[in-house]
Amino acid sequence: TVLGAAGVLAGFREETPPDSGRKEISLIFDKDTFVERKAMVPVHNGVRNVTYRFYKAVPYVGRPVDLRHQSLNISVPVRIDGRPVDASEAPILFHTAVGGFNPASVVDRNGAGENINVLLALGAGHVVVEPGARGRTLVSADGVHYGVAPAAIVDLKAAVRYLRFNKGRVPGNTDRIVTSGTSAGGAMSSLLGATGDSPLYEPHLKTLEAAEASDAVFASGVWCPIIDLEHADMAYEWNWGDNPLQGGGRINRAVSDELRAAFAGYQASLGLRGLGGFGPLTAETMGDYLTRTYLQPAAGRFLKWLPEKDRAAYLGRNRFMSLSGDDVSFDWNGFLAHVGPRMKAAPAFDAFDLSSPENNLFGLGRTPARHFTLYGLRHGTGNPAAELDADLAETVRMMNPMPFLKEASGSHAKHWWIRVGTMDTDTSLSVSGNLAAAAENLGYDVNAAMYWDGGHAVNYDPGAFVKWIGDIAG
Ligand code: DHB
Repeated sequence: TVLGAAGVLAGFREETPPDSGRKEISLIFDKDTFVERKAMVPVHNGVRNVTYRFYKAVPYVGRPVDLRHQSLNISVPVRIDGRPVDASEAPILFHTAVGGFNPASVVDRNGAGENINVLLALGAGHVVVEPGARGRTLVSADGVHYGVAPAAIVDLKAAVRYLRFNKGRVPGNTDRIVTSGTSAGGAMSSLLGATGDSPLYEPHLKTLEAAEASDAVFASGVWCPIIDLEHADMAYEWNWGDNPLQGGGRINRAVSDELRAAFAGYQASLGLRGLGGFGPLTAETMGDYLTRTYLQPAAGRFLKWLPEKDRAAYLGRNRFMSLSGDDVSFDWNGFLAHVGPRMKAAPAFDAFDLSSPENNLFGLGRTPARHFTLYGLRHGTGNPAAELDADLAETVRMMNPMPFLKEASGSHAKHWWIRVGTMDTDTSLSVSGNLAAAAENLGYDVNAAMYWDGGHAVNYDPGAFVKWIGDIAG
């Protein structure tokens, strides 16, 4: 399909976007073009009936390369249980559906998404913005991988700029944008919180003719973020190195041990202190830190929530833990054995055979997948002197919030909600732990917790998250 309207689309193997006949893309939000929709939102004692205005498939850049992905939907509550609500100054939940670093599109939807954060936010009277974004699997007809890094985060920043540029036209308070996302979407949400107004992304935003406005956000809600990719192989072996592989495959012991050993230097280089007055976070202290700060409290909440007889049965099956009053105790090694099989082989992210989603994420041009760590590159190619492609240092950096959280910045999100399940072996638990510590060490408001026995991408307390939005947006 040739999308002459947008000027730069010739040849892309994309379906015709909904507004491909348009002459030029206006960045002025048209507040009068919406349809009315209804949603039933679960609340503790029943349902809330929400009537909302639905703005569909709004292009958010002036010079899109792919309107199917570079468009957003906005949902604005106008009545809740029959009573009028005024959301013109409400906080804005900016929820990305990115998963797996794949493309996300919202243009075919006929209402707000079914994500629980989205529904509960509408029920609370907040505005909800759901942006699409390019992702790693997109390929043009002439073989160019146009959704690889940093496309998705560039698109999402452009979407934030669009909202802030339209302050006063877009319903809601554009100074109270709260991002949310899970896994690769958690990576996006944390990047939005950490990289506000960074000049690094500027050339990419210019190319898209993104609106001229700040892309800083107020707060970020982050579930099981797949971040710190260039250090995630080390962190993974530090965390899950002794756990067997799901499905019974073999772990390369030498590789696992080397990566684990390399984690210590990286973790020390972060110079982080733990939450709650815990001292330095090192490879040595991390297991005990995660156990005390996250795992035991998570287990405690879980046991408290279980009915009495189920609690006794659970404790009977899990002799590594003991309960005294409300306090649960166990050690890191007991926890690791409890989790059991790990999801990924070694290395978990920069696969020697270039087969991981992250190898594809760091593709470039007509190259579908690349190594993005020296370790992966040198072992994968068998060339101990191989060097990473020159562009990668910057591209990899644009995908990692951690370096951006080394120094205070007026443009960081000042409020962070961070969650991960304790059974989630998609990445190391130290990844979320470090993100929370980095934000807290800068003095930001951090609400971080783990979900006991929760697997990948679970969200067990969306009501608390949405209440938190109301509290911080005040
Ligand atoms: C996601 C999960 C992964 O294990 C990964 O490596 C990248 C992304 C996800 O669920 O988004």
